Amino acid sequence: MRLDVVTIFPEYLEPLDVSLVGKARARGRLDVHVHDLRAWTYDRHHTVDDTPYGGGPGMVMMTEPWGEALDTVLADGYEAGSHEPALIVPTPSGRPFTQELAVELSERPWLVFTPARYEGIDRRVFDEYATRMPVYEVSIGDYVLAGGEAAVLVITEAVARLLPGVLGNAESHRDDSFAPGTMANLLEGPVYTKPPRWRAREIPEVLLSGHHGKIARWRRDEALKRTTAFRPDLIERCDPKAFDKKDRETLSALGWVPDPEGERYGRFWRRVDDVEE
Ligand code: ADE
Repeated sequence: MRLDVVTIFPEYLEPLDVSLVGKARARGRLDVHVHDLRAWTYDRHHTVDDTPYGGGPGMVMMTEPWGEALDTVLADGYEAGSHEPALIVPTPSGRPFTQELAVELSERPWLVFTPARYEGIDRRVFDEYATRMPVYEVSIGDYVLAGGEAAVLVITEAVARLLPGVLGNAESHRDDSFAPGTMANLLEGPVYTKPPRWRAREIPEVLLSGHHGKIARWRRDEALKRTTAFRPDLIERCDPKAFDKKDRETLSALGWVPDPEGERYGRFWRRVDDVEE
């Protein structure tokens, strides 16, 4: 997979040299190119932004440096044999970045990132490139960063670990919280390793039992508890068909009841103390 990143802070992307993404690069799974947007400015101050039409606070990144940068980066990539680029635009007003989207992006051969500073990039840049390639406007969460560079690191790491041959164990993705295709999207429960006793703290006995069925059940119950505590919205949206009899017992003990109207609202469960209206 080829990755291009155009940014006014190339040094911000240095973490792409280390850890998992660094390894993916070393193994030839990822071909990363970071470009300084200011290389495509021609004034003394290397200006990339201007005041917004219509007024308002902040500055907007200009069409011209981005247009030239993207034309060059795309031409270079095509020349190097890459194909089917997709533009990835980190923005707090994008669609949520999810594991499902990470999987979709991991299946593409070439991603071009345009992390912005200031109030974002002139809309016409995306309208222009959207005529030639898919454009994904993506938010990594409901908070506002000072720029899209940190989002590029987040998206890149989530995508890189899905590339074949990057994670040691091919099974590792299957159990990911949020792995698509798992029937119920649950948060993973706690994990433990040696020693079995630390500062008088033991590990849950069931994990030493060697009884795979009991261990799987315990893990599932812990996942249901944790999801109830931190992400009740995930339970609410779970199709009851995703749960077996034991799951339903645990859910019931946690205060969940099936919502008879659920099918209509996509909210299949509610807590008993949740009185409507
Ligand atoms: N740029 C600023 N905030 C962002 C966010 N939450 N996600 C992606 N890009 C951003």
